[in-house]
Amino acid sequence: MPNRYNFRSDEYGGSLENRVRLFREIIEETRDAVGDSMGVAVRFSVDELRGAEGLEADKEGREIVEMLAELPDLWDVNISEWHNDSQTSRFAAEGYQEPFIDFVKQVTTKPVVGVGRYTTPDRMVSIVEKGIVDMIGAARPSIADPFLPRKIEEGRIDDIRECIGCNICVAWDSMKAPMRCSQNPTNGEEWRRGWHPDRISTKSDDGAVLVVGAGPAGLEAALAAGQRGLDVMLAEAVDELGGRVSRESRLPGLAAWARVRDYRGYQISQMANVEIYKSSALSAEQILEYGIAHVAIATGARWRSDGYGRQHQFPIAGMESGNLFTPDDIMSGNRPSGSVLIYDDDHYYMGSVVAEQLIADGCRVVFATPHAVVASWTDYTLEQHRIQARLLELGVEVVTSHALQEISSLDATLACIYSGKTRLVDASSVVMVTSRLPEDAVYQELAADADRLRESGIVTLKQIGDCHGPATIAAAVYETGAVSTLRLSTI
Ligand SMILES: Cc1cc2nc3c(=O)[nH]c(=O)nc-3n(C[C@H](O)[C@H](O)[C@H](O)COP(=O)(O)O)c2cc1C
Ligand code: SF4
Repeated sequence: MPNRYNFRSDEYGGSLENRVRLFREIIEETRDAVGDSMGVAVRFSVDELRGAEGLEADKEGREIVEMLAELPDLWDVNISEWHNDSQTSRFAAEGYQEPFIDFVKQVTTKPVVGVGRYTTPDRMVSIVEKGIVDMIGAARPSIADPFLPRKIEEGRIDDIRECIGCNICVAWDSMKAPMRCSQNPTNGEEWRRGWHPDRISTKSDDGAVLVVGAGPAGLEAALAAGQRGLDVMLAEAVDELGGRVSRESRLPGLAAWARVRDYRGYQISQMANVEIYKSSALSAEQILEYGIAHVAIATGARWRSDGYGRQHQFPIAGMESGNLFTPDDIMSGNRPSGSVLIYDDDHYYMGSVVAEQLIADGCRVVFATPHAVVASWTDYTLEQHRIQARLLELGVEVVTSHALQEISSLDATLACIYSGKTRLVDASSVVMVTSRLPEDAVYQELAADADRLRESGIVTLKQIGDCHGPATIAAAVYETGAVSTLRLSTI
C-alpha cells in the first residue's frame, strides 16, 4: 500500500511492522494502565475500499490483525471510511461488511464483533454459526430500537423496530444537532421528553382520539395514544396503511422504508383499543359528526408541479404547455415515456430515485439541478457520491448548476445559475421534484369554525406530520410525540 500519511523514516515509518508500532504501543499501554480491571477492545477497519491505494482486507488489513492477533481482548472490525461503514439500505444489504471481515476469526482466538446494519435475528445467528463473528455489533439497529437484544432474547421478533437504513441519524449527528431517527421517536431524548416508545405511561385523560391519515405521523400517533391506553380510531383514505412510506418503498432502493409502516401496523393491530378503518376518507363534516374529543389530522403532503422550490419562488414559464409530472404521479403509476427532464430543486433522495425508476421504465433521462452536485443534501446521509455515481452508470445525463427557466411541449430551457447562459434540452416531459405542500384542507376547514368544533364535542384539534409541515419521515415520527402525550392545541 502506498503511504498516504506516514512519511517517517524512524522506527514508526517504512516497514509494516514499523507503521503498526504506534497502534501496538497504544494497545499495550492501555493494557498496562487498566491491568485486569477491564477488557481492552480494539476497533480496526480492515479495508478502506480504495483498492491498492488503501488498506485491503486480503493484504495489509489482514497482516495487521495477524501481527496484533492476541493483544486486545476483543476485535471490533469494520470497513472505513464512514460512508463505507454506515451504508444505507439503498446501497447495501444487511451484512454488507461480511466479505471484508470474514478472515479475522481465523487469525485470532479473541472474540470478534462485526457490524453491517444487522436487524434480523436469523441473519445474526447465521453469521455467528458460520464462525464469522462471535458478537453482533449494532449501531443504527439499536438507535432504532435500543431494546433489540432483549426482544430477541424474549422471542418478541415482531416487536423489533427495525432500522430502515436511511441515515437520518448520521445526518443529524453530522450537523451537530440532537439526533433524530425515522423509527425511534424519542431517540436520545427520552430523559427530556419523559417517555420512550417501549416505555410509555398510561394516561388518565379519558377522551378518545381520532387520527385521520395513516402515514408515518398518523401511525405513530395512533400507536403512542393506543399505548397510553386511550381509545383510538385511525381512519385511512386508501386501502393500505403507510401513506408516503408505502408509496416511496416501491421506488428503487427504498423497500426497507416500509418498515416504518410494518412495525406500527403490527403493533396497533394487536391493540384492542385501536380501531383501524381503511378506505375511509373523512370529510370535515363527518369528523364533526363523530365528535371525538381529540382529533389529529395527518393527511400528508403532495409534491408541487409548478416549480416552486429553493431556486424559484414563482411558477416556471410555459408550465401550461408542458407535459408535467410530479413524484406523486410516478409513485401512482402515471409515468412519462420518451425523453424526460427531471428538475431537482429538492436536493434530497427523491429526484434520484425517480431517475432510477424512469431509466428502468426505458426513458431517456436528463437530471438537472441548480446545485453543484446531484442530491446535495445526501452528503449528510453519506450517500451523495454513490447517488451521483449510480445515475452516471445508468446513463442519466446530469446537468448541474442549472435552473429550469422555461418549458414547452418539446423541450426545456435550462439557465446556468452563474452566467445565465441558456441551453435547450430535448424533453417531451418534465418531472418536477422541487417542494411539497401540506394536504391540509380538512384541517383548515375544521379549524376555521371553533364554535362548531366545541358544539360537536371536539376538545383538541391538531395537524401533524407532513400535513403540518412537509419534512422528513423522522420529523413526522418525532413530532407526533406531542400527540402521544396529548399536548394538543386546545381549541
Ligand atoms: C450516528 C452515528 C455515529 C457514529 N459514530 C461513530 C464513532 O464515533 N466512531 C466509530 O468508530 N463509529 C461510529 N459510527 C459507526 C458505527 O459504529 C458502525 O460502525 C456503523 O454505523 C455500522 O454499523 P451499523 O450498521 O450497526 O450501524 C457511528 C454511526 C452512527 C450511525
Ligand atoms: S435514522 Fe434511519 S438509519 Fe438511523 S437508526 Fe433510525 S432508521 Fe436506522
